[in-house]
Amino acid sequence: MSVVALVPAAGRGVRLGLGMPKALVPVNGESLLLRAVRGLLAAGCVQHVVVAAPPDQVELVAAELAELPAAHVVPGGAERTDSVRIALDAVEQVAPDARVVLVHDAARAFTPSSVIQDVVRAVEEGAPAVIPVLPVSDTIKRVDEAGDVVATVDRSELRAVQTPQGFAIEVLREAYAAAGDIATDDAGLVERIGGKVRTVAGHPNALKITTAFDLAIAESVLVEGAP
Ligand code: CTP
Ligand code: MG
Repeated sequence: MSVVALVPAAGRGVRLGLGMPKALVPVNGESLLLRAVRGLLAAGCVQHVVVAAPPDQVELVAAELAELPAAHVVPGGAERTDSVRIALDAVEQVAPDARVVLVHDAARAFTPSSVIQDVVRAVEEGAPAVIPVLPVSDTIKRVDEAGDVVATVDRSELRAVQTPQGFAIEVLREAYAAAGDIATDDAGLVERIGGKVRTVAGHPNALKITTAFDLAIAESVLVEGAP
């Protein structure tokens, strides 16, 4: 019984603004995607990785990952949901014995091994869905359309969600079979079908690289590895 990770990497990286898919953006000479996939395999509990690449750059992405024979590349879709769905469909060929599936953004390339291991362990112990989370440090307010404050939300019960998210494979298949077009959060699809979602501790280094600021943080702080 194996663990397979799906890595949606078919986004355009519009907010980063470098004119190339974010997954292929280098940080100190190595792409976010190569770092993310290597990180998954280095955790020691993931046997296969299915990467959803920009459909017009499948060969380039496969070449990028040539050093990692456990990585398989499929053409992604128009939205992240489509990319995850396509990668999930490929699991039957790539890893027919997979019982646990992770979904991990290529953009979270510096996720520590311990987070990956904790997510896999929690699924193997019986949780149908598992997400790494962090407490929210900013004060959060609800505002109306005019921008006036309606309420201050109780921060103590809020969590920011990271990846990898882990699932019993039949649970994720059922959630995607029931899903509509667009969802940014895979665990949210499990919630919609009434499934329980457990949390484990996330890590600041698992931040999603979205903007030039995030990339600067990665280059200056994260590239040397977790403190
Ligand atoms: N993703 C994907 N397929 C899409 C859109 C996004 O596989 N059609 C992936 C991205 O490659 C990324 C992850 O989903 O690894 C999270 O998406 P995001 O951070 O929004 O990345 P981009 O869509 O590339 O960035 P932007 O929204 O700024 O264009
Ligand atoms: Mg996007």
